[in-house]
Amino acid sequence: MAPIAWKGIIAAYGEFLPPLATKVTLHEGGTPLVPSSWLEGRLGRPVWLKLEGSNPTCSFKDRGMTVAVSQAAGDGARGVICASTGNTAASAAAYAARAGLSCSILLPAGAVARGKLVQAVAHGARVLTVEGEFEEILGMAVKMAAEEGYALVNSLNPFRLEGQATASYEICDALGRAPAAVVLPVGNGGNITACWMGFLRYHAAGRITSRPRMIGVQAEGANPLVRGSPVVRPETVASAIRIGRPASWKGAVEAVEASGGRFLQVSDEEILGAQRALAAEGVFVEPASAAAAAGALHLQGAGLPDGDIVCILTGHGLKDPDAVRMAEPWV
Ligand code: F0G
Repeated sequence: MAPIAWKGIIAAYGEFLPPLATKVTLHEGGTPLVPSSWLEGRLGRPVWLKLEGSNPTCSFKDRGMTVAVSQAAGDGARGVICASTGNTAASAAAYAARAGLSCSILLPAGAVARGKLVQAVAHGARVLTVEGEFEEILGMAVKMAAEEGYALVNSLNPFRLEGQATASYEICDALGRAPAAVVLPVGNGGNITACWMGFLRYHAAGRITSRPRMIGVQAEGANPLVRGSPVVRPETVASAIRIGRPASWKGAVEAVEASGGRFLQVSDEEILGAQRALAAEGVFVEPASAAAAAGALHLQGAGLPDGDIVCILTGHGLKDPDAVRMAEPWV
């Protein structure tokens, strides 16, 4: 038997990515797509879980980061910078370390899960905690990038989105078709924009004959796209999507509208309940990711066309041990 050689998304999907002179990779992507008997039982159709926590730094951000940091290294950037609720920080720190670039990270004070902070520090990033809402901190990162010659590696960076689109290619390749619907958590809206772009590209290339409905899930206390207006002081247990004014607002709305999908909201109780139900079938994800599964339950009787549903479970549960501790105080 030939050896199995997965060498990351740039090697696997280079034809769908911009040309990159330098390649910085940790062999990210190629993540499992596993069936959920819990959700299949509730929804009466196949439901698949895309386990993005299986990426090298435990979230989907690595797909975008391999492309963005490759581009930054090729451009001769001094270093990389980002604002983050956690996962972007850990991913940027790891890929910058891999590339031999410096990494600066701006985090909202008191709002970042311990697991992620530890990762960023372990990889040697310069971490600054800043008082303020995520969007203000992102604004600071944009300014510092321009002033100091750093590459900004938030999802405003188009190379990030190119890389993140590969989750869609993998889903279609694994199923042999496009699913009926893709459900994913939405914070800044970068990932739903990127995944929709991926399905459009695969469709245009003749790899799939239909396109899925994109279902964007937000937390009740951080639901700007459901309300249609920004949220001041967003609040939810799902720290990754605690964002009141999404940077990729337009792209997210376009993905939902063009695909015939919708935004929906779930409560923190639903999120923690879904986290427990997934854990009970062996899949441990962070609260933001559990929001996708909680959101999928709302699709019962929603008139979706026949076919599979895919929940993109964006990050690993070990990010945030405190979320479980809240629900199970004896831990
Ligand atoms: N799920 C997880 C686990 C995330 O970390 C994020 C975003 C999202 C979903 C939402 O994706 O912003 O593209 O709509 N985390 C960012 C960060 C904000 O800084 O790590 P989005």
